[in-house]
Amino acid sequence: MRSAARLARARVFFGHGTDNARDEAAALVLHALGLPPGANAACYRRRVDRAGELRVRELLRRRIDERVPAAYLTGVTWFAGARIAVDPRVLIPRSPIAELIERRFAPWIAAARVRRILDVGTGSGCIAIACARALPRVRVDAIDISPAALAVARVNVSRHRLARRVRLISSDHFSALGNATYDIIVANPPYVGARELAALPPEYRHEPRLALAAGSSGLDSVRVILARAARHLRPQGLVIVEVGNTERAVRRTWPHLPFVWLEFERGGGGVFLLTREQLQAN
Ligand SMILES: C[S@@+](CC[C@H](N)C(=O)[O-])C[C@H]1O[C@@H](n2cnc3c(N)ncnc32)[C@H](O)[C@@H]1O
Repeated sequence: MRSAARLARARVFFGHGTDNARDEAAALVLHALGLPPGANAACYRRRVDRAGELRVRELLRRRIDERVPAAYLTGVTWFAGARIAVDPRVLIPRSPIAELIERRFAPWIAAARVRRILDVGTGSGCIAIACARALPRVRVDAIDISPAALAVARVNVSRHRLARRVRLISSDHFSALGNATYDIIVANPPYVGARELAALPPEYRHEPRLALAAGSSGLDSVRVILARAARHLRPQGLVIVEVGNTERAVRRTWPHLPFVWLEFERGGGGVFLLTREQLQAN
């Protein structure tokens, strides 16, 4: 595939929902030609007209010259089997937490017990939507400090017809939640430290800074979550937080907390789990 070879030669960075040139090239070409993302092999034998060819070229140019992540060019990605609309107002969904949600949080909590979930820093709404789809009786509160991100989340929630079970709330962390309590608090907060942020590949500059940057050490948001989550958890409730490469700093900063670091079959890591009781004991 010529487009895949061009992407590979240009050494674009993969990691915003795909991890190889072939998948990205397929997504871009199918999008440019107005074909569905899962189009079958027969499509590849179709003749492409001049206009289609120009659209493919323009997408490849923006991907290579401007380093725009493919999902922003196609406007769509997939998370835990759900189609999620994305644009530069939101981080491109890629959290390994998707896998845990698909397993309905097994073995950490009995799904039948879960009634309310809080998604902190919902962005596109991907985690909240995935939770609501995996657990049909659950109600989800999804908070974000960014009105722009909440506007994208609103589109996604409505496309999945989940407006009755997923409530979008404008909030700086827990501040707008009053005394609400949850069985699970799940968060993929910003966790990139200043030095790491400066060294990220150019693709990340297209994502909202608010979604990535978390102070000099990357711990600003995690610190608030660890300090305040217990108050919003029900007995035996869980807090699950992605901290990515900041895992080492988290372990160092809170050596007394008995973090369980989750493992994922599809890769990724840096996600911890704690119970309300573990948080309160420390
Ligand atoms: C890493 S992104 C995660 C987005 C989405 N949950 C995902 O997994 O793709 C972090 C999100 O947290 C939001 N955020 C940043 N600071 C926040 C704060 N103080 N309170 C609430 N949300 C915040 C950002 O706007 C962003 O949407």
